[in-house]
Amino acid sequence: MTNVAILGFGVVGGGVARLITDNYANVCALGGKKINIKYILDLRDFPDSPFADRIIHDYDIIANDPEIDTVIEVMGGSHPAYEFTVKALQAGKNVITSNKEVVANFGDEFLALARANGVCYRFEAAVGGGIPVISPVISCVRQNKITEIRGILNGTTNYILTKMFTLGESFENALADAQAKGYAERNPDADILGTDACRKIVILTALVTGKLVSPDTVHTEGITAIRGADVRAAERLGYSIKLVGRCIVCEDDAPYVVVAPFMIPKDEPLSTVFGVYNAVEVEGEPLGNVMFYGQGAGAGATASAVVGDLCQIMRSGTHAASPYFERIKAPRDFSGFVARHYIATEGSAEDVLRVFGDVRLLEGDGGEIFFITSPLTERELGDKLGELHRTVKADIRLLD
Ligand code: HSE
Repeated sequence: MTNVAILGFGVVGGGVARLITDNYANVCALGGKKINIKYILDLRDFPDSPFADRIIHDYDIIANDPEIDTVIEVMGGSHPAYEFTVKALQAGKNVITSNKEVVANFGDEFLALARANGVCYRFEAAVGGGIPVISPVISCVRQNKITEIRGILNGTTNYILTKMFTLGESFENALADAQAKGYAERNPDADILGTDACRKIVILTALVTGKLVSPDTVHTEGITAIRGADVRAAERLGYSIKLVGRCIVCEDDAPYVVVAPFMIPKDEPLSTVFGVYNAVEVEGEPLGNVMFYGQGAGAGATASAVVGDLCQIMRSGTHAASPYFERIKAPRDFSGFVARHYIATEGSAEDVLRVFGDVRLLEGDGGEIFFITSPLTERELGDKLGELHRTVKADIRLLD
């Protein structure tokens, strides 16, 4: 028998309890033991829940109970998730989490603490919801020379962009719909400003490079500046716009890490990821290109990844492959990042041609013009936009 405690009885915690209960025989058979959900920690009471008798409010009961083997932390946020995780690992309990914020901020510390205490720290659900991506990357991909890992890592923003592209819906309506469906973070700013995707690309970066950077050192842009005019311009050019997290591995240097809207040619696989779906692409030698795809948010998908980690711990414990994260100060200086850019600006063809050379100019909404630059570093682009002396209405990188 393995005794588990669930921290947080929200969307994900409820999904985890339901999955273990509904698929009980199957999950226990996969883990090789019976599972008992002994405690569920939450600030609230749930008198009408079938789990009402497991609800407690004092974390120390869990930390001090020697029968608890595994703590499932699905409460979100940095604190007290950080303190609870440290206490559990120090008490010799495995920890499973879906909380990308704590993994991105403290993953190096937790993995070291787990190793020192002979237990596991697993976080499959922290990236890509139900998509098996963390374990496969650790076990099946790292033997390659990885050149890039990138992905659509936030279901809420992909859902919003899909609605804006396919239905011409407003940003506000699409966000409200995503919130109603339980995809969005408690504070939707973390989704729409790119913070959530940033935490996830930080985790993927650490998986493929071993280097953990602080999320606040990553160049991060959200989707709030994307306008209907840009959606229409992208369509005319044969692109879609997606919020993409990218880690470009640089030999002998820190990787480039960025989260921003990118224009993606419509025949690229990432362009075909719609709605709440996420996808992660890994490029490496001699592997080539591999893509992981599935539902990136929601109770069921996330619970699937959490319970998968539980079965893996029950079956293999510390024998399962585990990553090693080393903290570095920052990613590579973003001013050297090279991309082509879609630029929309107030109309003056003459100025654009003088500064950007022989680009193809197109007329956009309300007298705007738009064009695609040649490949430029961020520094070079900044200099050119300075020379233009025109209001820039949009600047979106291309994923070539
Ligand atoms: N708010 C997140 C998303 C939840 O929309 O992807 C899953 O991490």
